[in-house]
Amino acid sequence: MTYTNILYEKREGIGWITINRPDKLNALNKKTLEELNEAICDAGNDGSISVVILTGSGQKAFVAGADIAEISLLTPQEGKDFALNGQSVFSRIENLGKPVIAAINGFALGGGCELAMACTIRIASENAKFGQPEVNLGIIPGYGGTQRLARLLGKGRGLELILMGDMIDANEACRIGLINKITKPDELFPACEAMAKKIMSKGPLAIRYALEAVNMGLEMPIEEGLFLEATLFGLLCGTEDMHEGMKAFMEKRMARFAGK
Ligand code: COA
Repeated sequence: MTYTNILYEKREGIGWITINRPDKLNALNKKTLEELNEAICDAGNDGSISVVILTGSGQKAFVAGADIAEISLLTPQEGKDFALNGQSVFSRIENLGKPVIAAINGFALGGGCELAMACTIRIASENAKFGQPEVNLGIIPGYGGTQRLARLLGKGRGLELILMGDMIDANEACRIGLINKITKPDELFPACEAMAKKIMSKGPLAIRYALEAVNMGLEMPIEEGLFLEATLFGLLCGTEDMHEGMKAFMEKRMARFAGK
């Protein structure tokens, strides 16, 4: 597939997806969302890709939201379909079975904040800004914001962001747990790549099951989540991932012992 609104590269096991509409601050219009979906499906299906890093083009924005020009024309039924469509793409990202790291290099507003929240881990440069400004436009978040914000931050903080419609800076986003880490702007991509490579050094099945246990378990009563954890734990016992991990641990211990 040829992409016009995103850049998609594969390098050393990492799929780099860049939303590429810098003149519109990478706002997600229909075509961009379709291309993002294509690239995410490809990254999920491609066995040579272990981690995805998702970012925005240019110096100013990760993604400044869904495209307001398109939203302004929607009828009620179209609005519902619009939200369901975006939600399904973001759920695909959340449940890809591989970590997706959001490299947040500027504005992450509305659909941009929702996109970041659908990712597994969020690393932001210190100039990043976050918010759910939809109420300022007379609408509410439609790409999962009302659900993922409350799950990530708790109901009170999630509702505050949604009801006030204000922007917060990277420090505040980190303080309330919206993002995992802050970097200097020129250290953002190296930091994301280093994290991706560290994850890639672990057993791939263990990574997949850890994602599954947390993502699926969170939506279950705790007893069912614990049962899921035990089941996945059991499935890992005796696998190559486990043998390799255990062997590496034993060899390190033996080397330490021999050195004494
Ligand atoms: N949808 C469509 N276009 C958008 C957009 C969005 N969500 N966000 C920014 N743009 C466009 C602007 O219309 C402008 O395009 P133009 O030059 O053709 O008019 C371009 O991106 C640059 O934006 P601009 O507003 O000039 O930049 P700024 O630095 O002055 O302000 C923001 C940056 C992010 C504060 C401002 O663009 C903004 O508030 N955007 C909307 C954010 C939002 O409400 N998102 C949720 C949507 S549901």
